[in-house]
Amino acid sequence: MNNTQTENSKQSKNRVLSGIRATGRLHLGNYLGAVKGMLELQKDPNIQTLYMVADIHTITTPYKVEELRDNRRQVVLDYLAAGLDPEKSVIFLQSMVPQHTELSFYFSSVMSIARMQHLPTFKDKVKQYPDYATMALLNYPILMSADILVYKAGLVPVGIDQEPHLEVSREIARKMNELYGLDFPEPQRFATKGEYVPSLKGEGKMSKSVEGSFINLTDDLGTITKRLSSAPTDSGKGTVTRVQNEKGKTVTTYTDQAGSESIGVKSLLEFVELFQGTAKRAEYETLYESTGIRYGDLKKELAAAIFAELKPIQEKRAQLEADPAYVDSVIEAGAARARVIAQETVEQVRTAMGLG
Ligand code: TYM
Repeated sequence: MNNTQTENSKQSKNRVLSGIRATGRLHLGNYLGAVKGMLELQKDPNIQTLYMVADIHTITTPYKVEELRDNRRQVVLDYLAAGLDPEKSVIFLQSMVPQHTELSFYFSSVMSIARMQHLPTFKDKVKQYPDYATMALLNYPILMSADILVYKAGLVPVGIDQEPHLEVSREIARKMNELYGLDFPEPQRFATKGEYVPSLKGEGKMSKSVEGSFINLTDDLGTITKRLSSAPTDSGKGTVTRVQNEKGKTVTTYTDQAGSESIGVKSLLEFVELFQGTAKRAEYETLYESTGIRYGDLKKELAAAIFAELKPIQEKRAQLEADPAYVDSVIEAGAARARVIAQETVEQVRTAMGLG
């Protein structure tokens, strides 16, 4: 065994991998659902964290070549600005480690077409882009499984929407272990408090593809205020109901005086909780059931709280933008480190499958 192999087998239980597609600037959903978890795990010296930009995944839906080239860099800038530290984490672009795509082809031999076609994420994307139901899109979760398992990562900080993909990665790990005697872990999701960040429009989740639903990490106070101002509300008064769901989680519902459920208010108060704390949310709930909430004031305070969290990130980003050589060196060094681990796994798999 050489040194790298020793390092690989020792650390694989404690390895973490995550990634974000290169579709543009990161929004609060990406930040709270994924990046916050990435930052938390990066703090643990017993964990090796690998964080990539999922640029190959970006080509599974329609895209523009020049935009992709630029967006890959924008995500790295957002990562570094938000606090991902190349001294602690391996930061790289997925396409710089070709072992991911190689492994994904081997993995595709143990998954059926029917299983992949039934995934809700696949169906949603086909609905969104009916003319682009490609093989790449069908393979999306298999490539994601390869991203994770090529490092034998056991923990993946991502939002709740990625759970069906992690289920695929566990299935692949089990099958590869059973069929070929390999030792892949079954990856688990590392959840944050913001695992599901709602859309500013009330319905659904915050998403880059829904205009008016998101706030970007690079937005200034004026933009945040403007984006929040169009979030739907109600008369400000009503009743609050709390019920426990089957998972033991409390689900809160707001019903206005006219008797209709205020989904927009629920989203707004979730943002209050995420940026101003549970006590502040409880204060607003008390007002909702008594004198009423003044949404103009609420939104102004919330915008200030969001901006207070984003301001240091934006300042750091401005410094990084001025030093492209540093950013290049981070990505190059990260990819070189990632390739060493990834190559070892690919060789193991090739040998086990009779291709070595
Ligand atoms: P992407 O680019 O769609 O999303 C990036 C991350 O942001 C999280 N996220 C949210 N979390 C909470 N609330 C929201 N409204 C919200 N919107 C987005 C997503 O859950 C995700 O964590 N398939 C991945 C990219 C990927 C990957 C991987 C992730 C490719 N390979 C390997 C982990 C491991 C994705 O959908 O990215």
